[in-house]
This record gives sequence, C-alpha cells and structure tokens, in this order.
Amino acid sequence: MVAQLLGLAFLFLPTNLVTFTTYGMSVYPLPPPAVQIDNNKGEVVYQDTSVYGVVGKAVILECGTTLPDMYIWSFTKPGTEAIKAVVYDLGYGPKLQKLAETLGQLTVISNSAAVSIEKLPLAAHGLFTCQAFYDIEVEPKVYYYYVHLTVRVPVSKPYLLISDASPVEGSTMWMRCNLDNGTGPIQYVWQHETRSGNISTFAQGNTSVVNITDINRDHTGWYRCVASNAVNSETSNRLWLDIIFGPDIPQIDVTPYSLTERGYSALERETVSLMCQAQSNPVSQYVWFYNNSQVFTGPQFTIIKILRMHTGDYTCLAQNTYLNTRSKKTISLTVYYPPDGSPSCSVEPALNYTSLRLLCSWSGGFPSPSLKWTGDLKGVGQDEAGAGQQTNPLTNTAIVLPSEDVTINNSLFTCTGSHVALKQSTECSTRTYIPLAEPVCFAYVTNNNQYLMLSCSWDGGAPKALVWWEGPGGQGKGGEENSNILIIRSGTAPSGKPYTCYAKHPLLGQTKTCRLTLEAPVLLTQRRVVSVYEGSDVQLTCNLRTNYLPVSEISWFNNRGVDVQGTSKYTLLRTSAWANLTVRDTRETQDSGEYRCSTSNAVGGTEINVTLVVKRYPMPPNTTLVKTKYNSRQRNEVDLEWQVQNETDGGWTGFILEHIWVSERPGRRGSSNDSKVTISPPVWYSNIIEDPDIRSHTVGSLIPTATYRFRITPVNHRTIGHPSAAKTPAEPRYNLYPAVIGAVIGGMLFAAILTALLFVFIIRNRNNNPRLHDMLFGLQHSQSRENINIPEDEVVGGSEGGVEEIGGLSSPGPTMAIPRASSPLTTSPGSAIPTTSQAPPPGDDNEPVSVTITVNVTDP
Ligand SMILES: *[C@@H]1O[C@H](CO)[C@@H](O)[C@H](O)[C@H]1NC(C)=O
Ligand SMILES: *[C@@H]1O[C@H](CO)[C@@H](O)[C@H](O)[C@H]1NC(C)=O
Ligand SMILES: *[C@@H]1O[C@H](CO)[C@@H](O)[C@H](O)[C@H]1NC(C)=O
Ligand SMILES: *[C@@H]1O[C@H](CO)[C@@H](O)[C@H](O)[C@H]1NC(C)=O
Ligand SMILES: *[C@@H]1O[C@H](CO)[C@@H](O)[C@H](O)[C@H]1NC(C)=O
Ligand SMILES: *[C@@H]1O[C@H](CO)[C@@H](O)[C@H](O)[C@H]1NC(C)=O
Ligand SMILES: *[C@@H]1O[C@H](CO)[C@@H](O)[C@H](O)[C@H]1NC(C)=O
Repeated sequence: MVAQLLGLAFLFLPTNLVTFTTYGMSVYPLPPPAVQIDNNKGEVVYQDTSVYGVVGKAVILECGTTLPDMYIWSFTKPGTEAIKAVVYDLGYGPKLQKLAETLGQLTVISNSAAVSIEKLPLAAHGLFTCQAFYDIEVEPKVYYYYVHLTVRVPVSKPYLLISDASPVEGSTMWMRCNLDNGTGPIQYVWQHETRSGNISTFAQGNTSVVNITDINRDHTGWYRCVASNAVNSETSNRLWLDIIFGPDIPQIDVTPYSLTERGYSALERETVSLMCQAQSNPVSQYVWFYNNSQVFTGPQFTIIKILRMHTGDYTCLAQNTYLNTRSKKTISLTVYYPPDGSPSCSVEPALNYTSLRLLCSWSGGFPSPSLKWTGDLKGVGQDEAGAGQQTNPLTNTAIVLPSEDVTINNSLFTCTGSHVALKQSTECSTRTYIPLAEPVCFAYVTNNNQYLMLSCSWDGGAPKALVWWEGPGGQGKGGEENSNILIIRSGTAPSGKPYTCYAKHPLLGQTKTCRLTLEAPVLLTQRRVVSVYEGSDVQLTCNLRTNYLPVSEISWFNNRGVDVQGTSKYTLLRTSAWANLTVRDTRETQDSGEYRCSTSNAVGGTEINVTLVVKRYPMPPNTTLVKTKYNSRQRNEVDLEWQVQNETDGGWTGFILEHIWVSERPGRRGSSNDSKVTISPPVWYSNIIEDPDIRSHTVGSLIPTATYRFRITPVNHRTIGHPSAAKTPAEPRYNLYPAVIGAVIGGMLFAAILTALLFVFIIRNRNNNPRLHDMLFGLQHSQSRENINIPEDEVVGGSEGGVEEIGGLSSPGPTMAIPRASSPLTTSPGSAIPTTSQAPPPGDDNEPVSVTITVNVTDP
C-alpha cells in the first residue's frame, strides 16, 4: 500500500517533477515557487525555504508545522537532477535510507516530520524535499516542502605573506592574506599596528592582496589580516615590516646655542658641543669635518676650550651603510673673542675748529665691540650725535658735538666699550682744555742771520689749537697745531708792516691774535760831537730808539774803523737797547776822530757817527826863578822862589821844580874819583808842586860837594809850559867849608837812607796816602799796577836837556814819563821824582855826572 502510494506518488509526480525540475533547474538554487493545493480542487501545495548550516554543526530541516500522516524526505545533489529518498514515514515510523548515512548523523525529530542533522557534512549541501500528506482518509492534502540546505565552511586562520619584509622607502610591495578553508564571500581587513601599539585598519575588501606603493617609514610596524565570512572571522599572526630608509638631511644641534645671521657663534674658551642627528634605518654612521678635513667620528663632536682659530665650517656626514647612502649638513661656527686692552679715547677739532670730534677706538676683537660715549654731552643723544658721523662703527666711534655745546673748559668725556666675550666693560676718557693764557709771538734770527723766524705758540689746549700766520703781501703760513713758525729770508720782510698770528681753539668762539711788526733799527746818541780834554775817560753813547723786532746787536767801531772789543783802552757796556763805549785815558792825537756805532737786523741796518775831540789844555804862563840860594853852609838845601807872568790870567795847575847835577866841586874830585866817576849822563830831578799858589820851595838832600843847576816849569794839567832859565844856586855868605866837609858826607849818607825809606813808605802806603802816591806814579788800574816797576829797581839814564814831552806819546822807552792822571780832568798831572844823588859841586849845568839813582815809571 505504501509502495503503491509511493508508486502513485511517483506516478503522478514525474510531470510535476519535470516541471519542477525544469523550473528548478532554471532557477536553482533559488527556491521554486511554492504550489498551493486548492483544497477544493485537490491541488498540491508547494512551499520553499532556505536553511543555512555550518559544516560539522547541527541543523534542523522543518517539514510543515504539524505532523503529516505520511511524508517522504528526498535529496537532490546540486548539479544533478536525481531526487533520492532519504527517509520516509508512511504511518509506521520513519525509515532511514542508506543515502542518509552520507548526509551526516540524520535523525527524525520525534513527533514531527523535521529532521535533524548532527555534524553536518559538506555533502549535505543540496535540495531537501519533504513531500507531506495530510488527512489522507478524509480529504487528502499534499504538500511539497522544498528546503534548500546550504552548508557553509568557516574561514580558517589566515596567514600573511609579504613580498619584501624590509622594503626600501619609496618602493612598492604587496601583502597577501592566505586562507585554507572558508566559504565565500570572504571579506579581508588589513590591520597595522605601530611600534607604540596603535592598531588601525588601513584597507579592507574582498581581495586577499593589497599593493602598497611609495612605501614610507610610517609603514613600519606589525601587520595582520582578518578574514571573515558569514560564519566567522579569523585573524592572522602579525608580521613585522621594517622599512629601510635614510639618512635624512642631518640636524645639527650646537650647545650652547647661539645663532646669528652669520651662523652659529661661540665665545672663546667655552666648551662647544656639536650634535648631529639624521633619521635613518638602519641608524646612521656619523663623520665630522672641519673645513673639509675629517676631525671626528660619531654623532657628538665636542670642542673643549674653543679658540678663535676654530672658526670655520663644520660638516656632519651621515651614512646608511645598508643602503650605502649618505647625506650631510654644514654649519658655520664663529668664535667670538674680545679686543685686547681697553678702548682708546681722543678728542680732535672738527668743523674747521669750531667743534669737537670725540674719537674712541678699540680694535682687535670679533665681533667688533660696542662703544658708547658718555660725559658732558649736554643732552647730545648718542644716536643723534653719531648719525652719519660714525666713521667705522666696528672699531671706532666718533661723535661731533654741536658747536654751541662746545664751550666748557675741563670737560670729561668717557667712552665705554663692551664686548660679547667680556663680562665687564672697560672705558677710557679724555678731557678738553682751553689753552693757557694768550698766544705768544716772538721773532728771532738764525745764526748766520740768513733767516728770520717768526714764532707763534698757544700751548696747553686739548685738542690742540690751530695757529697760522698772515703777513703783508700775502706772506703767511697755513695752520699748524699748537705753534707755528714763519720763516722769512732776511731782507725780504717789509719794515713796519705787521705780521699777525691767528689762533683758534674749538672751545673758544673767537679767534685770538698776536702781532709782530718788524722794523729796521734806528740809533740815537746823546751827543754827536763829544769833546774832552786830554787824559780823561769819555763815554760815547749809542742806543736804539725802541726795542726792535727782530733784535739786533750794536757794535762800535773806533776812529780807525776797528770793531771795538773790551780792552783796557776801551770799555764796552752793552745791553740789547744800548751800547756805551768808554774811551779811557784819551790822547789828542790817538783818540780823536770819528767813532761809528752800527747795528742791523733782518729788516735793515743803520749806523751813527760820533766825533770825539780830545783837546789839549792851554800853555801855562812863563815862570821865572827869582831866588836860588843855599840856605846854609852845609850846602845840602837850596831855597827857591819864582814868579809867574801874567798871574791874573791863571791857566796853570802846578810847577815842576828841577835840578840837575852839573859837576863835582873843584878840590873834591881827587879824593873821591875812584868810586864816583862817570856812571851815567846827567839827569834832571824833579820836585812836583801841585799847588798853583806856592811860589817858594826848598830842595834838600843835595850833595854838598856837587854843583847843581835849577829851573822851574809851569804845568797846566798835561800841558807842560816853557821851562825857565836854569840857575846855579848862590853860595851862602860865610864859608865853613873845610870844617864841615866830614859832617856833610855823613849827612849825605843819612839823607840818602832817609829818602830811600821815604820811597818805600810811600809805595807801601799808597792806599793810605793816595794823593802822594798818585802824584808820584799816577792813577793806575789794578791791572796796570802790576806793571809798575818798583822804582828802587830801575836805573835809567835821563835825557839831556830835561823832559821834552810829558806823557809823551811817541817815546815811551827811556824817557822819563810822567804818570798820566786819570779823570777827573782837574787832577794835577803826576811826575816822577828824583831820589838822592851826590851833592854836586857848584859849576856847569850839563857836565857828566858820576852816580844817579832814578825811578822810571813806564806807561803800560
Ligand atoms: C579544510 O577542510 C578540509 C576538508 O573539509 C579539512 O580536511 C581540513 O582540515 C580543513 N582545514 C582547516 C584549516 O580547517
Ligand atoms: C598589485 O600589483 C600587481 C603587480 O605588482 C598587479 O598585478 C596587481 O593587479 C595589483 N593589484 C592591485 C589590487 O592593485
Ligand atoms: C676655515 O674656514 C674659514 C671660513 O672659510 C676660514 O676663515 C678659516 O680660516 C679656515 N680655517 C682653517 C684652519 O683653515
Ligand atoms: C676755517 O676758518 C677760518 C677762520 O676761522 C676761515 O678762514 C677758513 O676759510 C675756514 N675754512 C673752511 C674750510 O671753512
Ligand atoms: C681750564 O681748566 C683747567 C683745569 O681746571 C684750569 O687750570 C685752566 O685755568 C682752565 N682754563 C680756562 C681758560 O679757564
Ligand atoms: C749808556 O747810555 C745810555 C744812554 O744812551 C744811558 O741811558 C745808560 O745809562 C748808559 N749806561 C751806562 C752804564 O752808563
Ligand atoms: C816864554 O818863554 C819862551 C822861551 O823861554 C819865549 O819864547 C816866550 O816868548 C815867552 N812868552 C812870553 C809871553 O813871554
């Protein structure tokens, strides 16, 4: 019955099945449209469902909601048309077919037509059909339940494949996510985990391969892929991707850090560290170069106590030894060092000596120090003052003060210098001074009188004053500092025109001047003609009219044209203003004449003549002896008296009373001739009478046995008058001659000794008794005295006929000279005096004599 039923079923099924299969084939795996059996018409009802199972897992396939009276489960393998029974129940319990064993552990769930498959195999994939029959006995209904079972496989754990685990930056690579099992469609998710642990999804899709173009270092990290399907999701193990790159351009860090527009800078003696870093994989190797020569290997190059010579270019070279690539960077490092010492300050004139320029310089350092002026700037802003005036801002600073501020004497200005390499600033300062007093002008001449030098100086200023000359006719000299000398050739300077020296100093508004006027000298004298009496000293004067510039020396030329120097004859007293010539002991013939005083300077010369007239005194009046007589029988003294003609006229100053030994008295010659005969020729012995009023005199110390003659000569100063007629003294009236002869001789000797003693006394006491001395020897200068021969030593013969010229000029030799008198003119002339001689016997005047002791004072 069941078989029939099944057969029936099979019988009427084919057409349906054909339809179904053709339909199903065309649409499979889509479920065929369910066929509803119209109860009324007995039609089969078709229902379609899809069931998804996972291999190895359990699945339940439903067949209606209620238990049918009969059912048949069949299976159609995909790709085939055959429908094969799996289990059926025709009211007698389910009957499993053999086919069911290939479809897993298939059981029918009790009290239903649903089947359960444990451990679903892949083979169970296909179309299950449940043909269910209801109400068979009343009104049978047939249902066809199509159950489309899809058996899915879960994805297995994927594994990652990378074309290159160490790709180079910039290259291209791929990654594959490999899977053994897994039902599609499979979705792939690609994950990247950075070194730090951040995980991100960078790609997803349905392909198992991703290409990465233009790889960069950011791609370094862990990679994994996640494969997913409808069943599950699996993640691969992670793989490390190491990107090879670099080195990049290095970065250099300089410690201590000091960056200027010219590069890095460091202070001398600092420790400087250069650190080089260049990104690279594998890490870089570093090499350092200084000015292109290798100095160090390693990333950090340290220079301990850097010096100025270490200035230069430092290059870091980074190398990637794996790629054999390199990169480098160069920095410039400048070592700063301070200038030596301290700044130097000075002040100089500016703007044509109307203003000041302050100079401050401090060179040697690098970079240049900064210099700043402070002090009595009176609000002059440094910047304002310096603008456009700074000569070299690197090592110098100069500021010019406005003129109106430049009036302060003794101002202090300070320049402060600071340098980046010095902890402390240093400074210098300068002061300004107005020159002392006023400019000083003077003139002088060169030794040979060739040039005239005009000097002008104004010292003591700071800065120095400007001094310049302006002279007549454009003569002049440009400015010089402090002093200025204008040189003029002698004779080219015009007389009387001023030369002006101008002096200018920045601290004084006005220009100072001093002036020199050059003039040819003019000489003056008190008297153009000077007349004196013979024997006196006379002074000729000569003086400059004013003090001249240039100075000139005055010279005197005597009457013979000889340039006078100081001698015993001439005394020259000279100052710059005058020269006085004293002619000593004037003589008429020798000293009269034209004297010339002369001077000249670089401008001109002049001279002046002075006439000296030396006059003799007039002749004294004639004088006659009126009495000549022994006053005793001893015959050793003679009384004399005389008279002057024309006494009332005057004109004489004294007398010379002379006597001469004439002869031995007769009768005495025989007894004394042995020792007394012919020693020298006879000589006049003089007694000088200075008093013009005296008219009588007694001559003593005569030799009684001798004969003498006497005469008198009047004297007017140096002018000697005519001698009177010589006379022999008259005998005394009584004659005691024989009785006294012996005593006479004795007295004679005594007198001689006395006379000699008198002489010695006079000479020795000439200071105490000058008049007497002068009378005998004349006034002498001390030098002249040394030339005085001691009278006692000289024995000179006198000339016949007595003294011819007293103070004679031409015959100074053996002539008995009368010592000259010195001024004043009124002084009486002196005269030599005779000393003792033997008493002459009365007799002839001019007979030869036997013994003479005489004094001769020579004129030096
Ligand atoms: C893949 O499937 C085959 C057969 O179904 C099985 O033998 C194998 O073990 C599976 N592999 C994995 C990784 O599941
Ligand atoms: C990946 O690159 C390969 C060649 O390297 C190429 O054949 C492939 O089509 C690329 N795939 C994608 C998804 O770009
Ligand atoms: C290095 O180079 C710098 C700049 O070119 C130069 O000033 C310096 O003198 C050089 N140093 C040496 C030691 O050559
Ligand atoms: C400088 O000053 C002097 C007078 O003080 C004047 O003669 C001269 O011409 C001036 N020079 C200039 C260049 O101004
Ligand atoms: C300038 O100052 C100095 C020092 O104080 C002083 O000796 C001098 O006399 C002053 N000169 C003038 C012109 O004031
Ligand atoms: C020289 O003469 C001058 C007059 O020319 C006079 O002033 C001066 O005092 C004299 N000097 C002597 C030393 O006599
Ligand atoms: C003075 O004496 C001289 C000679 O003895 C004589 O020539 C002269 O005339 C006399 N003079 C007078 C004024 O008598």
